Amino acid sequence: MSRLTPIAFETTDIDVMGAAEGRVAIIVTPDGKLDPAARRANRLTKGALARLVESERFSKVRSGQVISLAWPTGMAAEALDVLVLDRKAPAIELRKAGAALAKLKGDKPLCVMAGGNPKAAELALGIALRDYRFDRHKSTDDETPGQAGAVTIHHGKADEISAAAAPLLAVAEGAHMTRDLVNEPANVLTTTEFADRLAEMQALGLKVEVLEEDALEELGMRTLLSVGQGSASPSKVVVMQWDGGKDGDAPLALVGKGVVFDTGGISLKPAGGMEDMTMDMGGAGVVAGTMRALALRKARANVVGLVGLVENMPSGTATRPGDVITSMKGTTVEVINTDAEGRLVLCDVLWYAQERFKPAGMIDLATLTGAIIIGLGHDNAGVFSNDDALCNAFLKSAAAEGEGAWRMPLGKSYDELIKSRIADIKNTGGRPAGSITAAQFLARFVKDETPWIHLDIAGVASVKAETDFAPKGATGWGVAALNRLVQDKFETPE
Ligand code: BES
Ligand code: MN
Ligand code: ZN
Repeated sequence: MSRLTPIAFETTDIDVMGAAEGRVAIIVTPDGKLDPAARRANRLTKGALARLVESERFSKVRSGQVISLAWPTGMAAEALDVLVLDRKAPAIELRKAGAALAKLKGDKPLCVMAGGNPKAAELALGIALRDYRFDRHKSTDDETPGQAGAVTIHHGKADEISAAAAPLLAVAEGAHMTRDLVNEPANVLTTTEFADRLAEMQALGLKVEVLEEDALEELGMRTLLSVGQGSASPSKVVVMQWDGGKDGDAPLALVGKGVVFDTGGISLKPAGGMEDMTMDMGGAGVVAGTMRALALRKARANVVGLVGLVENMPSGTATRPGDVITSMKGTTVEVINTDAEGRLVLCDVLWYAQERFKPAGMIDLATLTGAIIIGLGHDNAGVFSNDDALCNAFLKSAAAEGEGAWRMPLGKSYDELIKSRIADIKNTGGRPAGSITAAQFLARFVKDETPWIHLDIAGVASVKAETDFAPKGATGWGVAALNRLVQDKFETPE
């Protein structure tokens, strides 16, 4: 596991600013007001800040942006990062500002003079989220992030800010776990390695069970097993339980697609870009990261995470197009295209989750369709739901955390597209409404009484350009939104 950058909170001491190495960050309001730390920086730099504040550049700057002064006179630091921030800036703006500082910081130590800003913990979360590298397979880079680049946040009420930051940093640690899993290549992150990494979370107080193929066979999870049967890696379902709520309260169930590699199977994908399919376990990665965050901050809620771990490979034992498989629910599925495998994995895990846990709500996450990328690009995940209240609560959580999410329709009429001639349903509905027919397929395995959300995260789980909170690659999208949903809707009051 990559480690979070260590962040220390100290009671403000502006005397450290002159000698601090690496980078020093100060806060200036958009109207150019200097707090004591900024005034000290101005004095040390012989008026550089006063000149900045009067400059044309400054008149165009917006709250949340950073202007860096390189090699400032009178300071040991190699840069003075001037964070322009409204005193009443919303939390998400501080988080983005923290991320901007982390991006500039690289391996260098960073000293942030946060004054008395009441939301300074959000700066810490922004820094922790953005200060991420996946370098475990680089042989030349011997510096681990954070070791050289520790962060100190100076604040008038350091203890309060430190306490407020602890549950936020749990979210960052969860998101980092998700990214580590999603970035990991498939020769390393086999189904067995994935299950082992989840089992390690028992140390955090989670109950973790690994269901092996014989148990899955016994349960009748034939559609899930049919996806993994061409692979040398054994299929598994891992169940993670966090019992932080009232005894006997129905849990929230999080269900993740964990296809450790998706070749398409016998319906083989083209070679170009196939390497990206190491991220096809993104849904399971978000479930894992969210469970980690909840356990780390000891959430007062009952939440169960279930992931279906399989590898979709072509071989002599692989499922063929045309095969008919019976799911755990009993619904028979004609496999038209072995590349529409995610829904075959999820349908059995969804059914099992409901049969075993009778959840108060169920949310599945999956890198399910290329079609959702055509529809929404990389800015929003597709949100499908049978329950307006749960769905609206989730959309609100996602918006508050700066994670894009957009509701898509479900509807009986789409079922026409997945009718099968010889079985109950088929696993693809052709090109029209590709993401919706995938969701309609899943809906067949959701009980009427279960409030349910399906999140198609194919476009947001891993991206080629950096985002506000993550460098290129795995984003950890969803950990913060789900954590907030649990906090706002599923926790028992103290
Ligand atoms: N894992 C893919 C979806 C995907 C595509 C995720 C691009 C991330 C980036 C999924 O298993 C898949 O192959 N879906 C097919 C479904 C089709 C065969 C009905 C697709 O989207 O083309
Ligand atoms: Mn596929
Ligand atoms: Zn897939």
